[in-house]
Amino acid sequence: MALIDLARERRSIRRFRRDPISDEDLRYILEVAHYAPSGANRQPWRFVIVKDPNLKKRIREICEEIEREFYKHVPEWFRNFARERGISWRKPHLEEAPVLIHVFGYRRSPHWKESVWLMIGYLLLAAAEKGYATLTYTPSDTRWANEFFNVPENWGLETIINIGYPAQEPSYPGRLELSEICYENSWGIKYFKE
Ligand SMILES: Cc1cc2nc3c(=O)[nH]c(=O)nc-3n(C[C@H](O)[C@H](O)[C@H](O)COP(=O)(O)O)c2cc1C
Repeated sequence: MALIDLARERRSIRRFRRDPISDEDLRYILEVAHYAPSGANRQPWRFVIVKDPNLKKRIREICEEIEREFYKHVPEWFRNFARERGISWRKPHLEEAPVLIHVFGYRRSPHWKESVWLMIGYLLLAAAEKGYATLTYTPSDTRWANEFFNVPENWGLETIINIGYPAQEPSYPGRLELSEICYENSWGIKYFKE
């Protein structure tokens, strides 16, 4: 599939079938991701891959406890956005998805956050290319992960990428038109007329 088609058709999915994904595909996806550029080429990322059902269950319990508290205080716009997409404090995908990739960032590297997220973009497209659905889940508190995974100092959990086969129809939240977001020479002067 051409890159434009992968970019256009990749969707976030929040319910997964439990079918496993192949190790070969998982390796391919991580290999693509690890070629991403990073600040001073520090490659400030590490991955903890979890497939074990008991561990996933525990991770879900921890995250749901955190989210239940978080959702009591979210602003109205976010509550509406979440409701429309079936997002709530419940995180069944953490148990359903056959693979959880916990992405850690090294907080002492230059531009570590930008680098980690750029790499995640590669990862998501590679997963889409292999025909998998993904969810980029960012727990509202990630501190638990350091003790849980025995993580060294200065590394922190950025996100949990859920990968598997979709068990729901994706809904397209839409994108702004290029004419709305690209300017020429000065802010507000449209580069593309339509
Ligand atoms: C940095 C980042 C954090 C996200 N965190 C969450 C999350 O915690 N829970 C969730 O359900 N979706 C999360 N998403 C998915 C977005 O909601 C989704 O990408 C967006 O609505 C666009 O939908 P699409 O991915 O289907 O194009 C996150 C996406 C990004 C890029």
